[in-house]
Amino acid sequence: MTELLLLNGPNLGILGRREPEIYGTDTLADIEESVAREVAERGWKVTSVQRESEGELIQAVQGAYDTVGAIINPGALMIAGWSLRDALASYPRPWIEVHLSNVWAREDFRHTSVLAPLADGAIVGLGADGYRLAAQALLVKVPR
Ligand code: DQA
Repeated sequence: MTELLLLNGPNLGILGRREPEIYGTDTLADIEESVAREVAERGWKVTSVQRESEGELIQAVQGAYDTVGAIINPGALMIAGWSLRDALASYPRPWIEVHLSNVWAREDFRHTSVLAPLADGAIVGLGADGYRLAAQALLVKVPR
């Protein structure tokens, strides 16, 4: 197993142009590159999937049981993505939930994630660096 799943939910394909004052100016391609750089020394390759719909994200999770682990930014599906939550309950590998913005410093509806209780860890509010740090966390978590 050498593939790392990088999964991004709705509205994250337009990073760079999307409310840059909140989400920063890095594009998803920049993030993919930085995660790939981080895990290259372990021989891992990044499989990046970004979808706007919950069903397609679920399919990506179901098709990724053979990955080493996953970094997942579910976007607003953190709030009520119950089907995605159920899919992640069967995902057999470690995964880290990432949010670019500090969701707890924002509107009340962003304060709860239905997914995070299943995650091995969560990183919020560190912008695009959060993905790189999540990759580092997986390098530690996944046994050699
Ligand atoms: C986000 C935070 C969510 O509340 C929001 O719906 C997003 C982006 C983040 O990365 O900060 O789409 O997941």
